[in-house]
Amino acid sequence: MVETEPQFLGRDDVDNVEAILADDSIDFGEVVHPTPARGEAIFTWDYERARPGLAKLYEKAKTSQWNGSSDLDWSTPVDPERVALEMAPAAAMFQQRMAELPGSPVASWGPKEWTRFQVEALNWRMSQFLHGEQGALICTAKIVNTTPWIDAKYYAATQVMDEARHVEVFSRYLDTKLEGHYPVNPALQLLIDDIIGDPRWDMTYMGMQIMVEGLALAAFGFMHQVTEEPLLKKLLRYVMADEARHVAFGVLSLQEYYAGLSATELRERQEFAFEAALRMRDRLMMHRVWEAMGVDRRTVTEFLLGMRRMRNNPFQVALFSKIVPNCKKLGLLDAGDGWLRDRFTDIGVIQFEDAADTGEEYETFDEVAKDRAAG
Ligand SMILES: [Fe+2]
Ligand SMILES: [Fe+2]
Repeated sequence: MVETEPQFLGRDDVDNVEAILADDSIDFGEVVHPTPARGEAIFTWDYERARPGLAKLYEKAKTSQWNGSSDLDWSTPVDPERVALEMAPAAAMFQQRMAELPGSPVASWGPKEWTRFQVEALNWRMSQFLHGEQGALICTAKIVNTTPWIDAKYYAATQVMDEARHVEVFSRYLDTKLEGHYPVNPALQLLIDDIIGDPRWDMTYMGMQIMVEGLALAAFGFMHQVTEEPLLKKLLRYVMADEARHVAFGVLSLQEYYAGLSATELRERQEFAFEAALRMRDRLMMHRVWEAMGVDRRTVTEFLLGMRRMRNNPFQVALFSKIVPNCKKLGLLDAGDGWLRDRFTDIGVIQFEDAADTGEEYETFDEVAKDRAAG
């Protein structure tokens, strides 16, 4: 059977540099960004507690609430440069490769420039966490409306509170401990807009709980492991405890729902997952940071696309270590003759299909960090 090559993100080629760069000029507004939310609000008269897995998660959420104002010590003095430099060893190999590029824009950089780069990257990363948390807040409120299951409405309501707290603590850390904010990354906001604009209730879970929160859990885990800054470390540990429940909520709900879908419907979910993965890959290019450092976005984009197939590429490790195994758990990797498996193979990330669970993941990250530091 001859299959027509599908197009993703409206691009003829997912690595199209012009298309990736074009996203940077999208205007998401100075103060507010209205975006259409689609899907029906579903009332259910079936109040029976039929889903023990979700009920258990709901009970756990009720007793695991924490207070961002009083459970964290906001009087802790923070040296942003010191925090930023804790992340540096993980990027050492990447920096070296970039400096070795013919005509490399960073060839002349010394410790001073790389330190400034790390400070900007920290501001950028924390800013994207903040914006992503707001995305989660809005998506989870949408799930309260659109899910047909009472147990899921109960649980989603607790997640709304969790996400409000996450927005609050990241915002406060950025405002009071760091020096500089970044606006939302276009690839991240485009993905969140897609999630909110999709009328199918399960797509909110797919986009947010599986893809965005899967990435967040991996990213928080990495930062939590390397930082010695006590306020940030505790903040991340608390946030991660919540996020682990959120991802579990997505997996539990979708496992049940996907078991009843047709091959065509499953294929739509696979395509959505793949597009979301591409968006998040683009997001990690940090164009704004490079630009702040005087480096052309095009050069960076081409370099990063070229690095894609490299083993232990910092992108792939952060992005796919959680997403690929979760897609496998949901049966999405191998549905429809392994369509998504083939796509993930094409972009060189299938090796993460059996990646460790969250508990072991941090150790995996540590190993990767060591590899990178060793070059
Ligand atoms: Fe969150
Ligand atoms: Fe979350």
